[in-house]
Amino acid sequence: MKIVMVCLGNICRSPLAEGIMKTKLPENYIVDSAGTISMHEGEHPDKRAVKTASNHGIDISKQKSRPINTSDFETFDNIYCMDIGVYKEVISKAENEEQRRKVSVFLEAAGDHKNAEVPDPYWGDMNDFEEVFQLLDKGCTIIADQLKNIQHS
Ligand code: 4NP
Repeated sequence: MKIVMVCLGNICRSPLAEGIMKTKLPENYIVDSAGTISMHEGEHPDKRAVKTASNHGIDISKQKSRPINTSDFETFDNIYCMDIGVYKEVISKAENEEQRRKVSVFLEAAGDHKNAEVPDPYWGDMNDFEEVFQLLDKGCTIIADQLKNIQHS
Protein backbone atom coordinates (compact mmCIF):
# COMPACT_ATOMS: atom_id res chain seq x y z
CA MET A 1 0.00 0.00 0.00
CA LYS A 2 1.40 3.37 -1.05
CA ILE A 3 -0.07 6.73 -0.08
CA VAL A 4 0.89 10.34 -0.72
CA MET A 5 -0.09 13.48 1.19
CA VAL A 6 -0.49 16.62 -0.92
CA CYS A 7 -0.61 20.35 -0.05
CA LEU A 8 0.37 23.51 -1.91
CA GLY A 9 4.07 24.02 -1.19
CA ASN A 10 5.01 20.63 0.32
CA ILE A 11 6.88 22.46 3.08
CA CYS A 12 4.27 22.78 5.87
CA ARG A 13 1.18 20.55 5.99
CA SER A 14 1.97 17.52 3.84
CA PRO A 15 5.47 17.00 5.30
CA LEU A 16 3.86 16.96 8.76
CA ALA A 17 1.18 14.56 7.51
CA GLU A 18 3.84 12.29 6.01
CA GLY A 19 5.89 12.30 9.22
CA ILE A 20 2.88 11.64 11.44
CA MET A 21 1.43 8.92 9.20
CA LYS A 22 4.76 7.06 9.14
CA THR A 23 4.55 6.68 12.93
CA LYS A 24 1.10 5.08 12.64
CA LEU A 25 1.66 2.51 9.89
CA PRO A 26 3.89 -0.57 9.69
CA GLU A 27 7.08 -0.24 7.63
CA ASN A 28 5.71 -2.04 4.58
CA TYR A 29 3.46 0.95 3.90
CA ILE A 30 5.02 3.62 1.70
CA VAL A 31 4.12 7.17 2.79
CA ASP A 32 5.25 10.16 0.74
CA SER A 33 4.25 13.80 0.25
CA ALA A 34 4.17 16.32 -2.58
CA GLY A 35 2.94 19.82 -3.45
CA THR A 36 0.86 21.26 -6.26
CA ILE A 37 3.41 24.05 -6.85
CA SER A 38 7.13 23.61 -7.56
CA MET A 39 8.17 26.91 -5.96
CA HIS A 40 9.87 25.19 -3.01
CA GLU A 41 11.21 22.18 -4.92
CA GLY A 42 14.29 20.68 -3.24
CA GLU A 43 13.78 22.64 0.00
CA HIS A 44 13.51 21.01 3.39
CA PRO A 45 10.24 21.64 5.30
CA ASP A 46 9.56 25.04 6.87
CA LYS A 47 11.53 25.44 10.13
CA ARG A 48 8.31 25.84 12.09
CA ALA A 49 6.97 22.54 10.75
CA VAL A 50 10.27 20.83 11.60
CA LYS A 51 10.16 22.26 15.15
CA THR A 52 6.50 21.31 15.67
CA ALA A 53 7.16 17.73 14.56
CA SER A 54 10.27 17.60 16.72
CA ASN A 55 8.24 18.76 19.75
CA HIS A 56 6.26 15.54 19.24
CA GLY A 57 9.32 13.35 18.72
CA ILE A 58 9.05 13.17 14.92
CA ASP A 59 11.92 14.07 12.58
CA ILE A 60 10.80 15.56 9.26
CA SER A 61 13.97 17.63 8.72
CA LYS A 62 15.34 15.44 5.93
CA GLN A 63 12.27 15.56 3.70
CA LYS A 64 12.53 17.54 0.47
CA SER A 65 9.74 19.38 -1.33
CA ARG A 66 8.68 18.09 -4.74
CA PRO A 67 5.74 18.81 -7.01
CA ILE A 68 3.19 16.07 -7.71
CA ASN A 69 3.59 14.50 -11.16
CA THR A 70 1.51 12.31 -13.47
CA SER A 71 3.33 9.10 -12.51
CA ASP A 72 2.20 9.60 -8.88
CA PHE A 73 -1.31 8.67 -10.02
CA GLU A 74 0.04 5.25 -11.01
CA THR A 75 2.54 4.80 -8.17
CA PHE A 76 0.20 5.57 -5.27
CA ASP A 77 -3.00 3.83 -4.18
CA ASN A 78 -4.40 6.81 -2.27
CA ILE A 79 -3.75 10.54 -2.68
CA TYR A 80 -4.83 12.70 0.28
CA CYS A 81 -5.28 16.44 -0.29
CA MET A 82 -4.97 18.94 2.57
CA ASP A 83 -7.64 21.35 1.32
CA ILE A 84 -10.28 21.80 -1.37
CA GLY A 85 -8.10 23.98 -3.62
CA VAL A 86 -5.39 21.34 -3.61
CA TYR A 87 -8.01 18.65 -4.29
CA LYS A 88 -9.31 20.53 -7.34
CA GLU A 89 -5.79 21.02 -8.66
CA VAL A 90 -4.87 17.36 -8.15
CA ILE A 91 -8.13 16.06 -9.68
CA SER A 92 -7.49 18.22 -12.74
CA LYS A 93 -4.21 16.36 -13.32
CA ALA A 94 -5.77 12.87 -13.13
CA GLU A 95 -6.05 11.23 -16.52
CA ASN A 96 -8.86 8.74 -16.02
CA GLU A 97 -11.58 7.59 -13.62
CA GLU A 98 -9.33 5.06 -11.88
CA GLN A 99 -6.84 7.83 -11.08
CA ARG A 100 -9.59 10.22 -9.95
CA ARG A 101 -10.92 7.58 -7.54
CA LYS A 102 -7.57 7.58 -5.71
CA VAL A 103 -7.89 11.26 -4.78
CA SER A 104 -9.64 12.45 -1.62
CA VAL A 105 -9.73 15.39 0.78
CA PHE A 106 -7.76 14.25 3.84
CA LEU A 107 -10.24 15.33 6.54
CA GLU A 108 -13.22 14.03 4.56
CA ALA A 109 -11.49 10.65 4.27
CA ALA A 110 -10.95 10.80 8.03
CA GLY A 111 -14.66 11.51 8.59
CA ASP A 112 -13.99 14.87 10.28
CA HIS A 113 -17.27 16.71 9.85
CA LYS A 114 -16.19 19.79 11.77
CA ASN A 115 -13.19 20.74 9.65
CA ALA A 116 -13.20 20.28 5.90
CA GLU A 117 -9.72 21.61 5.38
CA VAL A 118 -6.35 21.53 7.08
CA PRO A 119 -5.71 25.30 7.30
CA ASP A 120 -2.54 26.60 5.69
CA PRO A 121 -0.22 27.65 8.56
CA TYR A 122 2.37 29.25 6.24
CA TRP A 123 1.32 32.82 7.09
CA GLY A 124 0.63 31.97 10.74
CA ASP A 125 2.64 31.34 13.89
CA MET A 126 3.75 28.34 15.96
CA ASN A 127 0.26 28.02 17.47
CA ASP A 128 -1.15 27.55 13.99
CA PHE A 129 1.42 24.85 13.29
CA GLU A 130 0.52 23.07 16.52
CA GLU A 131 -3.20 23.21 15.62
CA VAL A 132 -2.39 21.74 12.22
CA PHE A 133 -0.36 19.01 13.91
CA GLN A 134 -3.30 18.08 16.14
CA LEU A 135 -5.76 18.00 13.21
CA LEU A 136 -3.36 15.85 11.19
CA ASP A 137 -2.63 13.56 14.11
CA LYS A 138 -6.32 12.80 14.66
CA GLY A 139 -6.95 12.32 10.95
CA CYS A 140 -3.90 10.11 10.49
CA THR A 141 -4.99 7.84 13.35
CA ILE A 142 -8.35 7.26 11.66
CA ILE A 143 -6.96 6.84 8.14
CA ALA A 144 -4.17 4.52 9.35
CA ASP A 145 -6.83 2.30 10.96
CA GLN A 146 -8.84 2.29 7.71
CA LEU A 147 -5.77 1.31 5.69
CA LYS A 148 -4.78 -1.46 8.09
CA ASN A 149 -8.33 -2.84 8.02
CA ILE A 150 -8.41 -2.89 4.21
CA GLN A 151 -5.19 -4.94 4.17
CA HIS A 152 -6.60 -7.48 6.59
CA SER A 153 -10.08 -7.92 5.15
P1 4NP B 1 1.91 24.17 2.57
O1 4NP B 1 2.08 25.72 2.94
O2 4NP B 1 1.04 24.12 1.33
O3 4NP B 1 1.24 23.61 3.76
O4 4NP B 1 3.30 23.62 2.34
C1 4NP B 1 2.51 26.69 2.01
C2 4NP B 1 3.82 26.78 1.68
C3 4NP B 1 4.25 27.76 0.81
C4 4NP B 1 3.33 28.64 0.27
C5 4NP B 1 1.99 28.52 0.58
C6 4NP B 1 1.59 27.55 1.46
N1 4NP B 1 3.77 29.65 -0.61
O5 4NP B 1 2.93 30.45 -1.05
O6 4NP B 1 4.95 29.72 -0.92
